[in-house]
Amino acid sequence: MPCTWVTSDLQLLLSLTLFLVAVNISLPVLVDTTAELYCPPVLWTTVVVATWEIVLRDKAPCFRAYRADTNETTSGNCTDERIIWSSRLDQNPALQIGPVAITHDGYYRCQKVAPNGNFHRGYHLQVLVPPEVTLVQSENGTVVCKAVAGKPAAQISWTPEGDCVTEQNPHGGNGTVTVWSMCYWKARHVPNVSCTVSHVTGNKSLFLELNQG
Ligand SMILES: *[C@@H]1O[C@H](CO)[C@@H](O)[C@H](O)[C@H]1NC(C)=O
Ligand SMILES: *[C@@H]1O[C@H](CO)[C@@H](O)[C@H](O)[C@H]1NC(C)=O
Ligand SMILES: *[C@@H]1O[C@H](CO)[C@@H](O)[C@H](O)[C@H]1NC(C)=O
Ligand SMILES: *[C@@H]1O[C@H](CO)[C@@H](O)[C@H](O)[C@H]1NC(C)=O
Ligand SMILES: *[C@@H]1O[C@H](CO)[C@@H](O)[C@H](O)[C@H]1NC(C)=O
Ligand SMILES: *[C@@H]1O[C@H](CO)[C@@H](O)[C@H](O)[C@H]1NC(C)=O
Repeated sequence: MPCTWVTSDLQLLLSLTLFLVAVNISLPVLVDTTAELYCPPVLWTTVVVATWEIVLRDKAPCFRAYRADTNETTSGNCTDERIIWSSRLDQNPALQIGPVAITHDGYYRCQKVAPNGNFHRGYHLQVLVPPEVTLVQSENGTVVCKAVAGKPAAQISWTPEGDCVTEQNPHGGNGTVTVWSMCYWKARHVPNVSCTVSHVTGNKSLFLELNQG
């Protein structure tokens, strides 16, 4: 008897701990890659049903479920064919998203129902898109550096610093942003300039030898 008490206390403590650590996870994912989303780590033999709830921007939330006792997926109402169950459902009912598109930005939550409680793990999935970077000099001598359609917005810096105007424009309503910066170096003789685009997907520097015409 004491032994049972210890075990159930331990289980209670364990499930309380799991409840407490079952937080929302921020998950940045590069566009066009494959992402795996895992359910909370609950002893799998005790789980009855695992459900994924998917909430995408501008869409009704949809559901998918897996019953452990019958080893079956029940027909949910998620229709995106790029979101699938990972291969070993009976071991861990993870979701696989691939290739990740910009429309997969959203909230994904796994709920595991077990006799000792319900366990949740949520992911805020943020799709990252690297910007396309260009650096050109226009006829009047100004130099323009552009970071086109990045997500989130990139940052532009110059070496050496010039007299610059920098602006951001949302691009086509899909969450990407185009940033451009236009500079001139009138007062000094500057032979070369470089534009550095800083972005979570990686930084890029472009160099340009200025035409002093
Ligand atoms: C899926 O089902 C849920 C509950 O039955 C409903 O609220 C939701 O709108 C449905 N989603 C879609 C995309 O049909
Ligand atoms: C569950 O079903 C899959 C195939 O759908 C099978 O490979 C697996 O062995 C089954 N697992 C159990 C525990 O029955
Ligand atoms: C230089 O040309 C660009 C377009 O090519 C224009 O936007 C900018 O205003 C011009 N700058 C000056 C100082 O005339
Ligand atoms: C976002 O929209 C812009 C403009 O329509 C397009 O050029 C760009 O490729 C889109 N980006 C993604 C990742 O879909
Ligand atoms: C400018 O760039 C060119 C080629 O990138 C290099 O050969 C040259 O030394 C640079 N000049 C200065 C002053 O940095
Ligand atoms: C990119 O640049 C930013 C600031 O400009 C810096 O904080 C970051 O460490 C750089 N990232 C890489 C991978 O070099």
